[in-house]
Formats: sequence, C-alpha cells, structure tokens
Amino acid sequence: MRVGLPWVSEAGAIGGNGRRPGPPGCRVVGIGTAVPGTRVSNSEIESFLDTSDEWIQSRTGIRERRVAEPELTLLELAARAAKAALAAAEVEPASVDAIICSSSSPDATFPSLACRLQAELGCPHGPAFDVQAACSGSLYGLGLAQAMIQSGLSRTVLVVAAEIFSRVLDWNDRSTAVLFGDGAGAFLVGGPDRSGAEVVALDLGADGGGAWALDTIRYRPPQGESANSLPGYASSARALDRVVHMDGREVFRFSTKILEQIVHRLVGAAGIEPGAIALFVPHQANSRILATAAGRLGVPFERFACNVDRLGNTSSASIPLALAEAERQGRCHDGELVCLVAFGAGLTWGGALLRWQPTGVVIDDPVALESNLRMVGPPARTPQERKEVPE
Ligand code: ACO
Repeated sequence: MRVGLPWVSEAGAIGGNGRRPGPPGCRVVGIGTAVPGTRVSNSEIESFLDTSDEWIQSRTGIRERRVAEPELTLLELAARAAKAALAAAEVEPASVDAIICSSSSPDATFPSLACRLQAELGCPHGPAFDVQAACSGSLYGLGLAQAMIQSGLSRTVLVVAAEIFSRVLDWNDRSTAVLFGDGAGAFLVGGPDRSGAEVVALDLGADGGGAWALDTIRYRPPQGESANSLPGYASSARALDRVVHMDGREVFRFSTKILEQIVHRLVGAAGIEPGAIALFVPHQANSRILATAAGRLGVPFERFACNVDRLGNTSSASIPLALAEAERQGRCHDGELVCLVAFGAGLTWGGALLRWQPTGVVIDDPVALESNLRMVGPPARTPQERKEVPE
C-alpha cells in the first residue's frame, strides 16, 4: 500500500543520523571518473521510441547520454574510475586497505563488485563490500569510509560508484528509458594527514515508506517488431531480470523537497547560511529538479554543477562525475565550501559539506568529454565573494 510521504509536508523535518562527524579532517584525496565512449542522442532514441528531443530536453535537460558497449562490463568501468582516482592521488593500489562499491545495476548478486575490483586492482586483503543506496550510494560510501578511517579500522578507503543503467531499463518504456546514462566515479578517501578536500559535515538518511515511488518490476522482453527495432545497447544482456519503474511526479516532489532540506541540515550543522556555499554538486537526476531546488534555496542556479545534459542520470556515479568535471572547469577554489547532495530510491538521501583544498582529478573519457565542456556557471568568484566563506 502506498503511504503518505512526510517530506512533502511543509512542517516535516527529514530524518537522518543528524550528527556532525567525530574528529574532522577526513579527506577526499583523489577523484577519478570513467564513461563509455558511445554517445546516444535524444534523436537516436526517437528512432525506436515514441518520444522527441523537444520533450526530453524541456522536461529533463538531457541532450545525450553515454551507454556501455555490449562487451563492456561493470567491473571494467568501475576499474577505470578506480585507477583514475588512484592516479589522481598518486597512490598505489597496495596502499588501499578497504574498498566500498555502490551500484544499482550489478551484473551479479555475488560476489560483490568490491571484491572483484580488489582482485582486479591488486589491493591488499582488507574489507571489500558493496552498498545499495541507489543514487545516494557514493555519499553513503563516503560516510562509511569516513567512519572506518575515524575508527582506526582503515587508513585509505576507495569508494567506487559504477552504473550501467542501460542494462536495467526497459527501452520500450519512454517514461524511464530517456532519463539514464552509464558511468562510474571514485573517491579515494584518507585521514587528516593527507591533502585533499576536507569533509566538514556529513548526513545520511532513508525512509523505506517511500520505496514504492522508485523501484523495479519484472522485465518483459518485447515481442515481434519492437524487439527487432532496438539498437544493440538496448537489447544486449540484461544485468538483472528487473527494470526501473517510477512514479515520476512523486519522485520530482521528493527530490526537490529533500534537496532543500539536506542543504539546510548541513548548513545548520556547520553554522552557516546556504549563501556561503560556493558550489553545489547535486545528484544529476534532471535539470528541472536542480533548478527548482536552487530556487527554493534562494541560490543562483549558476552555483549548481550540472552535466545531466551530456551524461543523463548516472545514478550513484553522478556526484563524482559532476564534481570531477566542475573541478576541471575551474569551479572548485581553495578554502571554499562545496556541498554534495544525493537522493534516490529507497528512499535514501545524503549530503556532504567539503572545504575544498587542491585535490587530484583524472577523467577517463574515450571521446574526450573535456574538450566539449561548456561552462554552466561563472568560472571564478571575486575576492569579495570569497570573503563570504567563513573559516
Ligand atoms: N516522451 C514523450 N512523452 C512522454 C515521455 C517521453 N519520454 N514520457 C512520458 N511522456 C508522456 C506521458 O505519457 C504523458 O502523456 P499523457 O498526458 O498522454 O498521458 C505526458 O508525457 C506527460 O507526462 P507527465 O508524467 O505528466 O510528465 P511530467 O511533466 O510530469 O514529466 C518527468 C515527467 C520528466 C518524468 C517528471 O515527472 C520528472 O522530472 N520526474 C522526476 C523523475 C526523475 O528525474 N527521475 C530520475 C530518476 S530518480 C533519481 O535519480 C532520484
């Protein structure tokens, strides 16, 4: 049975662990990302689905997405992002003593992606496991990494979010097929003795009462003509026998509301106002959700990193992908606050406030996404604006 969603009430405050992390100082010491080389435009989707470029762009802001070639495995994509993060931080795999992976599109129930990645990279035999928090997975992974480092369990934790959503979509369902893309992103996380962006506040939460709004249903393969008209990436092996199912309007309401509430919780914990945040890097669900949330927060949309137009919604990989790109665009400045915000199926959510310090970034893109970068916001902030950020 569907239950009421508390986050839509004006009075309702969201839940979460509500705690500022213990001793501050955990650092993101390297960020790596990887995307498949195949670009699929809205026009191409028009050729086999009853949709239009105009509809997709006006409702979601998406122009194109990357899709995995049939032979590309999730492990290979995850490994490319992981190696990029290690290269960015100039850290050897032998120094990684824990691996956390996030994926909602795994190609096997077990063994975990993290265990297979550990073997692939040649990392030591520390803990390796997957988290399932849908689009919030990269921040759940970051939160766990921080807890493991602060407890003394681990020193260097690799968090990898990898998704091949093209294999968990029903490509005959226009309400979901047009929204997603494939990609992977990784954070290498270390203690206060390392250099990199510092995690100054972090919050995670979930409400299983809203699970129905975004879930999976049994996949029914198309028959006859529809089956024959699908391109290779849409008809190749499926990751699971289930596909994405969504109440779009409910997800829109949840996402806009929760994004605003997470930011308020983080700034409350840090004792600042949303205006003190130089850059917001939200989960890239769709640009209308982000623009609506920016309006609710009273923050100019130019402060939001947004690459959904070129990558679509890459679920848990979207935050590291957007953060890496923002850094490459010159939008992350030393000493400034960067706010990561996630929300997704579960329902789950999370936020992390980073104080930016020089952090290595490596982007692995076969078609040189970087050469196509368009500036979404102002590239640099004035000294006057920078003074607004409290120490
Ligand atoms: N192309 C053309 N028409 C479409 C498509 C499509 N791809 N998809 C749906 N339609 C049709 C519908 O069938 C409907 O037709 P009807 O009026 O004849 O019944 C019409 O468009 C309007 O449908 P609505 O659902 O009212 O469209 P809406 O304006 O609400 O936009 C959307 C739909 C874009 C999904 C919106 O609800 C939304 O942005 N929701 C958020 C969902 C989202 O971004 N999810 C991402 C994954 S979740 C996450 O990452 C946390």
